[in-house]
Amino acid sequence: MELLTPEEQAIYSRLDTGRLPRHIAIIMDGNGRWAGKRSLKRFLGHQQGAEAVQYVVESAARIRIPWLTLYAFSLENNLRRPKTEVNFLMRLLKSYLDNNVRRMADNNIRLQYIGRIHELPPEVQDKMRWAEATTASNTGTVLTLALNYGGRSEIVDAFRGLYAEIERKQIRPDRVTEEDIHRHLYTAHMPDPDLLIRTSGEMRISNYLLWQIAYTEIYVTDRLWPDFRGANLLEAIEDYQRRERRYGGLGESGEPETLSARPLNAVSR
Ligand code: FPP
Repeated sequence: MELLTPEEQAIYSRLDTGRLPRHIAIIMDGNGRWAGKRSLKRFLGHQQGAEAVQYVVESAARIRIPWLTLYAFSLENNLRRPKTEVNFLMRLLKSYLDNNVRRMADNNIRLQYIGRIHELPPEVQDKMRWAEATTASNTGTVLTLALNYGGRSEIVDAFRGLYAEIERKQIRPDRVTEEDIHRHLYTAHMPDPDLLIRTSGEMRISNYLLWQIAYTEIYVTDRLWPDFRGANLLEAIEDYQRRERRYGGLGESGEPETLSARPLNAVSR
């Protein structure tokens, strides 16, 4: 594969390219710790984190990962962090978009968002819409930024949408299926993540993609997000490829299965 660094190339050559994850989700954690270890202000950790985002996104695009979903700003970050930090993250997002949309075009990356976007400052929303529209015709990796996102609030929003549909169509409660809930999630158009990566060693899900990760393989690394690069993404994929995914069935080492090995709501996708 052209354009990979020699280190990336070495790991890539060991991968089974027919079994790359279709969708990778990442919890980017450790910006504050990265800065703290260097006696720098937290802001500088976020700034370095934004640089790491672009490296990792471009490596994912080069190896043709179809979907990459990054937890960039949680609902809890918005509510619980000091206003100065939230404002800095908003400014950082705007400058990240300004500086990288051109590179996204060069790498055929399409940008989208999930979360309660309408609650973000209007000027940030304007920039986000501009970046989304500018990359809308790209056909490679779909980069989804989760912004002002929370997994539980996503399920609340899905419930509200589904409830309205149930009332409109007079659907009986015992007719509601997993697929109906899936259709009302922010991620209705995407496959569920195959691999979830978390940096900085914490063994938590932190309210990320709660519904979607039911059968996702989880990979946690101690590396702090600002130090994470494409080679580390490839290492996570290599680890993922050593795992046996069973979806609640017996898998290859067990008896032949009579039921589908895929989650029931994924069969039709
Ligand atoms: C965790 O670091 C990370 C975040 C709060 C959000 C992730 C933000 C970025 C990677 C930078 C901006 C992103 C874009 C797309 C422009 P933390 O502060 O929780 O770290 P700590 O746990 O070490 O304090």
